[in-house]
Amino acid sequence: MARRAAIIGTGSFFPPKVVTNNDLTKVVETSDEWIRSRSGIEERHVTDYATATSDLATEAGKKALAASGVDPLSVELIVVGTTSPDTLFPSVGAILQDRLGLKKAVAFDVSAACSGFNYALTIASAFIENGTYNNVLVVGADTLTKYVDWTDRSTCVLFGDAAGAVVLTAKEDGSGVLSNYLYTDGAGGKDLVMPGGGSRDPEMRNGRFIKMNGKEVFKFAVRALEASVVEVVKKAGLELSQISCLIPHQANIRIIDHVIKKLGFPAEKVFVNLQKYGNTSAASIPLALDEAVKAGKIKKGDIVVLAGFGAGLTAGANVIKW
Ligand code: UT7
Repeated sequence: MARRAAIIGTGSFFPPKVVTNNDLTKVVETSDEWIRSRSGIEERHVTDYATATSDLATEAGKKALAASGVDPLSVELIVVGTTSPDTLFPSVGAILQDRLGLKKAVAFDVSAACSGFNYALTIASAFIENGTYNNVLVVGADTLTKYVDWTDRSTCVLFGDAAGAVVLTAKEDGSGVLSNYLYTDGAGGKDLVMPGGGSRDPEMRNGRFIKMNGKEVFKFAVRALEASVVEVVKKAGLELSQISCLIPHQANIRIIDHVIKKLGFPAEKVFVNLQKYGNTSAASIPLALDEAVKAGKIKKGDIVVLAGFGAGLTAGANVIKW
């Protein structure tokens, strides 16, 4: 059988501080009703000033490694999807290599915003399939609440902080990542931008906050999420009816509802936890996957689809046989 990347451990972590919709009514002119009905979000977890993305990623990584039972010294690669690294360099991956004692691992970050985990998983699974590495840690982690303008009600209500991780190992028993699909639309990049802090504006004269054209991102999200699911399932040689569990990017329940309606996909097979966490960017899919696994929603032999979208604009999906 083909050599594939199988997930043998999952883990996640989120900061303890909870901010409810009602808490936000004290910060901006909004209401619990507006946030729930427009996004489905009820509360989110927010980091304190001293906590950085790698701190969340370290905890998620520790849990995934413990669940996998893999010897830390046999991990050969770390790929982290993040757009809120602690610093422009070193990478969060390199920080994790040191903190988790993965002394033999090569490490780097992937910048694809909320699609970061699917991009990272695709890269990692290719390295396993081609025989380069046997054991890989893949992480999605972000702390976007540090980059929201707390006076901009159209963005600050949407985001939360978290990290999620999986350990991949090479298997030849039919399980593992069956197919990947990645998509980028650079022309749409202007609709979701973090303008400050990069080499274009290192002093952040244009601001240090996320700027989003919500309506355009919404339209892209519905289109791209639907296409990602259709394409990745087709590439796996499967039918939609064979999917046991769909884990979409947890940005907005209305986006998910539109997509599953267009696909004719049953809502009971879709895992949703965005009401508790908001949009945690690259962490959203591995956090949801970890919760789904722990809730017993995913069993041996199940076909799981992970599909998301984000700034770039980007989209991506992976089909996994559990
Ligand atoms: O990972 C990718 C991240 N981004 C996304 O997934 C975002 C995709 N887009 C969305 O989820 C939606 O576009 C939003 C949730 C951001 C906004 O929902 P919408 O239904 O597109 O609302 P809207 O932007 O058309 O705003 C409707 C009204 C506006 O007032 P007027 O102009 O009609 O008087 C806004 O000013 O709602 C107002 N509004 C709010 N009102 C109360 C915007 N934000 C808020 C708020 N509370 N937090």
